[in-house]
Amino acid sequence: MKQIKIHGGKTLSGTINISGAKNSAVALVPASLLSDEEVKIDNIPNISDIDALNEILEYLGADVKREGSLMTINSRNIENKEIPEKISKKLRASYYFMSALLGKYKKVEMYFPGGCSIGARPIDQTLKTFRALGAEVIEENNKFTITAERLVGTTISLDMPSVGATINTLLAAVKAEGETVLKNAAKEPEIVSVATFLNNMGAKIIGAGTSEIRIEGVEHLGSCFTEVIPDRIEAGTYLLAGALIGDNLTIKNVIPEHISSLTSKLKEMGFSMEIGRDYINISKQSNLKPIKIKTLGYPGFPTDLQQPITTLLTQVDGVSYLEETIYENRFQNVPYLNVMGANIEINNRTLKINGKTELVGTTVKATDLRAGACLVLAGLIAEGTTTITDIKHVLRGYENIIEKLRSVGADIDLEEV
Ligand code: EPU
Repeated sequence: MKQIKIHGGKTLSGTINISGAKNSAVALVPASLLSDEEVKIDNIPNISDIDALNEILEYLGADVKREGSLMTINSRNIENKEIPEKISKKLRASYYFMSALLGKYKKVEMYFPGGCSIGARPIDQTLKTFRALGAEVIEENNKFTITAERLVGTTISLDMPSVGATINTLLAAVKAEGETVLKNAAKEPEIVSVATFLNNMGAKIIGAGTSEIRIEGVEHLGSCFTEVIPDRIEAGTYLLAGALIGDNLTIKNVIPEHISSLTSKLKEMGFSMEIGRDYINISKQSNLKPIKIKTLGYPGFPTDLQQPITTLLTQVDGVSYLEETIYENRFQNVPYLNVMGANIEINNRTLKINGKTELVGTTVKATDLRAGACLVLAGLIAEGTTTITDIKHVLRGYENIIEKLRSVGADIDLEEV
């Protein structure tokens, strides 16, 4: 088992380069099999979620090459067979294979996907879309057998703007007959990146990034090249590290617009940052103001930064409030922060963070990916040594986190125990 050890209190200075976005890459890789030719995706992050998707591609018989951050995928000779549960439950994004295989072969057999345990995370909206396009869905013992004689475009309105259901609709409808109109679509940059990727292959998708997406089905998708967009959540996490203990920490290779909901909250707290075309420079500041945050779909404040920013709010004098509207169980980091010295109350979906509190290192557990990120941030400022166990969750989503933090001055190690 791997764990992270941090000796806190070291100032962070220098530059951290942001990797390709996990939540974009994990959709692009399954989407690649819709192409009848070779596709190349660059800026793929080296994280274990990508390894799991690679495993599925190779299991299906795709020809996959990984050279550094470049992934070349040729799915011409794949066999559309049942994807075993032990692979699909490794991550949430495995269900992008459901829609990609359905879209290409009109048949797919696979199990309920995995992912961080942060709430129920049903897939009813994706299944509703498949049915609306004309597929039959049979669910038995956690296994889904989805078949369609024809997939025919139609108008679908999502009950909530789900990222996964929006991407799954793109993948299932891109080769359907006629036009699909998706209403109440999610607007995250990761969706725009998938639509752009498919359009580069020859798809006809307009409106991605707005709440109405139109997909005109095409018969053939060909070769293409794309680059994964920078990871806005990784960027936000390191920006928060800089806010906590930075001295001119530069976060490089970011699209600042993608995290403007975070930078505007930091400004409201009293931070001044230098925001360039593809970088943000930040330093720790004093006299911060408490704030109220509510998580929302893009362009609102992302749920994926809710746990990381909790650490920062423990360092502000006064009472801050943080409302989580997306997931019902995304506060598992809070008991650990409290053990470290924070004073946070959980009231249903809202945290009341009473600051400022000194944090002291101890042994804590990464219950999920962003809880782990929150605890890494806490360890960076805590007095003494913080040991974070169950770190596999963090390694699923943050490329080279140890090396990146060490390169700017953190005293952090990965240990095998
Ligand atoms: N929902 C349903 N039914 C559905 C789909 C979603 O009720 O069929 C609900 C969910 O339970 C949740 C809300 O709708 O309450 C939003 O879920 P969404 O489908 O948007 O999330 P997702 O696609 O499962 C992706 C990211 C998450 C990120 C969310 C929201 C990937 C692989 N995962 O999840 O990332 O939190 O969008 O932005 O792209 C993370 O990176 O730590 C992470 C959890």
